[in-house]
Amino acid sequence: MEEPKKITSVVLKNPLDMHLHLRDGITMRAVLPFSARSFVGALIMPNLIPPIDSLESARAYEERILACVKQSACENFTPLCALYMTDSLTTQMLEECAKAGYKFLKLYPKGATTNSQHGVSSVLDSHMCALFEAAQALEMIVCIHGESGGFVLDREHEFGSVLVELATKFPRLKFIIEHMSDHRTIPLLENYENLYATLTLHHITLDLDALAGGALCHHHFCKPVIKTPKDKEALLDLALNAHPKVSFGSDSAPHGLESKRNGAAGIFSAPCLLPQLVELFEHHEKLGNLQAFVSDNAMRIYDFASWSPLAQEWERNPKYVYLEKTPCEIPQGVGAYQAIGDELQISEEIIPLRAGERLKWTQK
Ligand code: NCD
Ligand code: ZN
Repeated sequence: MEEPKKITSVVLKNPLDMHLHLRDGITMRAVLPFSARSFVGALIMPNLIPPIDSLESARAYEERILACVKQSACENFTPLCALYMTDSLTTQMLEECAKAGYKFLKLYPKGATTNSQHGVSSVLDSHMCALFEAAQALEMIVCIHGESGGFVLDREHEFGSVLVELATKFPRLKFIIEHMSDHRTIPLLENYENLYATLTLHHITLDLDALAGGALCHHHFCKPVIKTPKDKEALLDLALNAHPKVSFGSDSAPHGLESKRNGAAGIFSAPCLLPQLVELFEHHEKLGNLQAFVSDNAMRIYDFASWSPLAQEWERNPKYVYLEKTPCEIPQGVGAYQAIGDELQISEEIIPLRAGERLKWTQK
């Protein structure tokens, strides 16, 4: 009998990262090339200090990102800047943003995660409901960090009742449950037409043992916290089958080593993301679903074709990412450099997920 043919190359068309932290300044310069090389576009999170919470600040941030893309000699990478929902957001601001093509809103409950101090104190109060009403009319998309202030392993589950209320009250508004981490959230996707989710690489491959099973590993600490093996398996299953209501969002969230040692939440996963995904899908004999998970599902869920000129542009001039089955190594660390006079000095070191590990696949 003939051996089945071994797959040694994979081509992905227009990969999208629907949840990415690029930060700003020298950190952005250090981390952006990893994403810009691999993805045609990414949804950029607005939790900067101060937050990206107005049309002006979103435009200015987008310009800084595009300048950095150019400087990094990366081609064909579009940042989609999300707008931070603060208590001072108005419906008029939403109208301005939507008109200018900024369709994504990011909702952080106050205090839920890194730089969420400007987040919303009461998600369902009358002011917020007026905003959701306006966002629905403007066909915007609301990306939610869905966690309560309760016990750390129950936070996402507890927030479920808020999601149900939102989904029911605003049935034509799309809500994205960001970085879904708990298997108990999955039925919400099935029961509510307007609820969707993004999945990270770390929540589908790691569980609490990776964080606290041996010596405490701060590189595996993020919000929402990685959970039980059962959660991991259930989420992995959604990803591997490219469940139609999920798309890929890395939540790559760089912090300098010093901040990580001081307890900052966030996993820097941008380096070698696609080789890791190919390896994972190949291992589970699901390579055929990877294109849907990293691109096609997002194209459909966020319905770019109906509101963004990007859909046509990406079709006319696609970004093909080639991966080959030759080994590559995840960098041990990524330096953010500062110019002091005419010298470059390292300002912080950012340690990637699985730093120094060898992978079977390489991005060409
Ligand atoms: C993110 C960050 O560092 O900005 N941290 C994290 O643990 N995921 C914020 C977030 O997405 O929650
Ligand atoms: Zn995030």
